[in-house]
Amino acid sequence: MQSVDVDRKDNKSVEDKRFKVLENAIKRHQYHQDALIEILHKAQEIFGYLEEEVLKYVAQKLKMPLSRVYGVATFYHLFQLKPKGEHTFVICMGTACYVKGADELLKVLEEDVNLRPGETTPDGKVSLMTARCIGACGIAPAAVIDGRVCGKQIPSDVLEKVKNCLPV
Ligand code: FES
Repeated sequence: MQSVDVDRKDNKSVEDKRFKVLENAIKRHQYHQDALIEILHKAQEIFGYLEEEVLKYVAQKLKMPLSRVYGVATFYHLFQLKPKGEHTFVICMGTACYVKGADELLKVLEEDVNLRPGETTPDGKVSLMTARCIGACGIAPAAVIDGRVCGKQIPSDVLEKVKNCLPV
């Protein structure tokens, strides 16, 4: 089975879905600024880490200064800002992806290149993260590789993509 990279147009709509899932969570908190920590927690579950674009989105939705959102995101250890690796792989471990074998993607990376979620390769080339439902269940198991949503991933392809980022 071949894995598919979602084309640019679809990628955009899948990306938007992640923001849609986040917006629903913010709505559930009725846009209350007091819910910032819970919302950042949810955002991290959805995106795997808190990149600037996500923090800006949260700040805008809660009508808060970005500096305050940054302050909270950097103060609490449970929040992870953009990983330090040159390339970022986020594997979705939500239910649909898990059922379709997302754990096999993580397993092959651990076994073959000794990379576990939350880690960056010693040369700083690749960071691996996990997320919970990125809103692309229809193409499970899904991953976000350097910001690009990729569907129907299989272990050998993910491994190859990671290896391609590593020096030979
Ligand atoms: S569970 Fe992975 S995209 Fe929904």
